[in-house]
Amino acid sequence: MTEKASNTPPQDVHMAKPDAPGQGQAMWGGRFSAKPADLMQAINVSIGFDKRLAPQDLAGSRAHAAMLKAQAVISAADEAAIQDGLSRIEAEIADGVFPFRDEYEDIHMNVEARLRELIGPAAGRLHTARSRNDQVALDFRMWVREACHRTAGQLQALQRALVAQAETHADTLMPGFTHLQPAQPVTFGHHLMAYVEMFGRDASRFTDAAVRMNECPLGAAALAGSPFPIDRHATAKALGFDRPTANSLDSVSSRDFALEALAAGAICATHLSRLAEEIVIWMTPQFGFIALSDAFTTGSSIMPQKKNPDAAELVRAKAGRMLAAFTQLAVVMKGLPLAYSKDMQEDKVPTFEAFDVLDLSLGAMTGMVADLTPNAARMAAAAGAGFSTATDLADWLVRTLDMPFRDAHHITGAAVKRAEQLGCDLADLPLDEMKALDPRIGSGVYEVLTPAASVASRKSYGGAAPDQVRAQVARWKDLLQ
Ligand code: ARG
Repeated sequence: MTEKASNTPPQDVHMAKPDAPGQGQAMWGGRFSAKPADLMQAINVSIGFDKRLAPQDLAGSRAHAAMLKAQAVISAADEAAIQDGLSRIEAEIADGVFPFRDEYEDIHMNVEARLRELIGPAAGRLHTARSRNDQVALDFRMWVREACHRTAGQLQALQRALVAQAETHADTLMPGFTHLQPAQPVTFGHHLMAYVEMFGRDASRFTDAAVRMNECPLGAAALAGSPFPIDRHATAKALGFDRPTANSLDSVSSRDFALEALAAGAICATHLSRLAEEIVIWMTPQFGFIALSDAFTTGSSIMPQKKNPDAAELVRAKAGRMLAAFTQLAVVMKGLPLAYSKDMQEDKVPTFEAFDVLDLSLGAMTGMVADLTPNAARMAAAAGAGFSTATDLADWLVRTLDMPFRDAHHITGAAVKRAEQLGCDLADLPLDEMKALDPRIGSGVYEVLTPAASVASRKSYGGAAPDQVRAQVARWKDLLQ
């Protein structure tokens, strides 16, 4: 802004009075004498994406107008006209006939411009004691708050699908892995319940964030608050907030509520991606642990035998967008001085995109989990392979022969080596071979060497034993009611 420009009163007769912008004139046009360059408008315009804030913008305006009337800042007649106009705008949006116009830049000015067309000059009173800075902070905060609650609900739906499968398969043996190498037998139900825990924490991150962000920025106005006798507690209450924000600068310049939601989304996406990755692995003929129905698979245009887990692959890949969204907004915010800067208009695209992606990913994952059928025989066979009960043998030596664990570990290693030489499992190693390792070993050892016995023995709290799994299933069914 040059000195000259700031000292020059508006001269262009086409520019409207500050209180009465006409068709095609910027709302802020009073001190300007020329229209913005096309490129200025192109880089400035946000209505293409912030139209999604229309419901929040209307709710905010309704609460603001009602408060202005209650505080005798505007007349009852003007307030009634404003409320009526806002209702008509709401109906126009619902009917798909509301004119979203680039020349009015964003959702806030589009609504106000339309209000003026519908009710005349009273529309100009709505922006008393308000700025687009607190307006957008409010709208966006309400949108993110709702997205957090919705996502927590979707996570619970996913958890319910997992719990249902886990209950059915609390006894279904499967190999447990470390390093993706067979480690110890677990059950399919136990494995799925691990994700129930992860998604439970994800849901709580969204609800925690929603609680923390539940303070209302409306009334901070441009940055310093308002000289009008506004009642910020009343608008906060009307809009479902716990209280008004306590610092006007913070109110208009903070977006950590969105960052926190995006961080929760990014973490959730990593969990979704891990489960997606496992579905992809389990679906391979080499594993053959599960099948998905035609509803969640696709074929190949060239290879007729193919049944591909595309939905799982896409959930895995879309995690990238979620992580990018957090980075995008963090980079927008990291260097901004207080208070509002136009950079912050760039908060919306990544946030909307992230929650759209999350919505789709959670829906697809819930569908896949409900749809999948495990191949119990195949998983049970795999559960016993790879000497997966070696730890059980070592534990038996400790318990039965009072051997130090380190010695038991060594002897078990020798047993595995011998079984490998003979091409058999540990459970099939003849007793004389066992006795060659330690003459005190008796036939009782075979009771612990099957995968079912191994799993049943893991009775510690949160362990793989079917009764433990069932206890966790019951706890979650209760929590998810
Ligand atoms: N469209 C703007 C945004 O999303 C609204 C706030 C504009 N405020 C301003 N002082 N230019 O951030």
